[in-house]
Amino acid sequence: MGGSRTNISTGPAGRPWRFDLALDNGASVPRQTQLSRAIIQEIQRGRLLPGATLPGSRTLAAQLEVNRKVVVAAVGELVAQGWLEALPARGTRVALNLPTLAVADAEGRRSVGSAPAQRRAAVVAVSDGVPDARIAPVDQLARAQRRALRALTRTGLGYGDAAGDPVLRDVLAGFVNHARGLSCSSEEVVLTRGSQGALSLFALAMLEPGDVVAAEHPGYAPAWRAFRLARAEVVHVPVDAEGLRTDELEAHARRLKGRLKAVYVTPHHQYPTTVAMSAERRMHLRRICESHRLYIVEDDYDYEYHFEGAPLLPLSATKDLSSRCVYIASLSKLIAPALRLGYIIADRSVVARLSSVRELLDRQGDVVLERAVAELIEDGEVQRHARRARQLYRERRDHLLEQLATRPPLCAALACDPPGGGLALWLRLRGVTAEELVRRAHARDLTLTPGSAHAADGSLPAFRFGFAAHTTEELSAICDTLEACLEPESGAKRR
Ligand SMILES: Cc1ncc(COP(=O)(O)O)c(C=O)c1O
Repeated sequence: MGGSRTNISTGPAGRPWRFDLALDNGASVPRQTQLSRAIIQEIQRGRLLPGATLPGSRTLAAQLEVNRKVVVAAVGELVAQGWLEALPARGTRVALNLPTLAVADAEGRRSVGSAPAQRRAAVVAVSDGVPDARIAPVDQLARAQRRALRALTRTGLGYGDAAGDPVLRDVLAGFVNHARGLSCSSEEVVLTRGSQGALSLFALAMLEPGDVVAAEHPGYAPAWRAFRLARAEVVHVPVDAEGLRTDELEAHARRLKGRLKAVYVTPHHQYPTTVAMSAERRMHLRRICESHRLYIVEDDYDYEYHFEGAPLLPLSATKDLSSRCVYIASLSKLIAPALRLGYIIADRSVVARLSSVRELLDRQGDVVLERAVAELIEDGEVQRHARRARQLYRERRDHLLEQLATRPPLCAALACDPPGGGLALWLRLRGVTAEELVRRAHARDLTLTPGSAHAADGSLPAFRFGFAAHTTEELSAICDTLEACLEPESGAKRR
């Protein structure tokens, strides 16, 4: 047990601040958590004011007699939660806009809670894998948007290219060529309203009524709905531990004799199972698409998030196949879904058709946002954010995996193949149906989406647990609730 009085340096009023803090080495609560809670309490009591700067991590570690890693981890969590702000080259200060309690929205896609007491009071939503918008580089984006608006006002804010801002298309081409092994030019890029906009645009521009699209099953149902928007049919192809069952795809291609136009895949981390498509399946898929002249609609929704070594390159990085590849990605997982900025990379003839349909749908995108994002990529801000986010989400994934492995009720009921990356785990259920678990969780103010949301019909004994948007404390609290839902006396239906 160690305790100390620590100088928190000046606040906006220039007053030095002291707080008494005793970190208990023997306590069951990790010292990192003790420290972050103590700082939150100081802020909530109003003793640490917005704008007050904290001593450097070395100073704080020496004063508290703890390893500097403990301080760095606690401060990192508080920055992620929005209590503190890291200022480049100026240290860390108390955030000017402190986090407030937010309840999940109507779709249950978001929850923000920080202090344990607050967290208990709110409805917490476990998403299917969204990033933590609290760490998004919003200040940098806001400044870049202001600059973009001024610059565009000078050069004219009129109608522009339906394929999107030429500057961002050029920057994105460089970005994916460098980071993802593609070899495209700006003329092969169309900007869209997120990946969903890209899927619908592809469907409306490239599919005819009666065409068939093969899609992974279980899979991303909003993509199936986009294909049906163009009156195309969807055939489901099962997924196993190596990804799409390409033998089944081949059988469909033979049976459908020319009606099968495209195959929709998420090879990096299959949605929802998180499985990475094996190299053999990728090769087989390429051969099938060449011989049956299929488009490969490759939805690369979370490429940045690989935690173990380098990821396999996208299928669209294959040069001899590139004319049949329609590569779809967005900033939703990289920065935040609300930006609604995605892109398609495809052959020029495809881009021409996509652009002419986009012109009819919404004329063009948000050119101010597009130009601002181009600046953030050129300055390396997006790449820096991706590195920080990757590190943080990896810690959160590891924390969740540890919770699942060390709590007996969770071990007994939930099985998972740890994914090499991504923002979610796919948890298979034993002894309880997904619907029953969802019902029990709902009664405890926790919303989960049952696996059936990703199935063509029927129930799936699994659910997707998006971990990235929750701090380690929040993940522990969610596991507390899950544990309560799965305890025998909770009456969960056994099968
Ligand atoms: C597999 C997959 N594709 C596409 C999307 C849509 O993303 P966007 O927000 O870019 O439209 C999502 C969103 O969750 C997704 O999981």
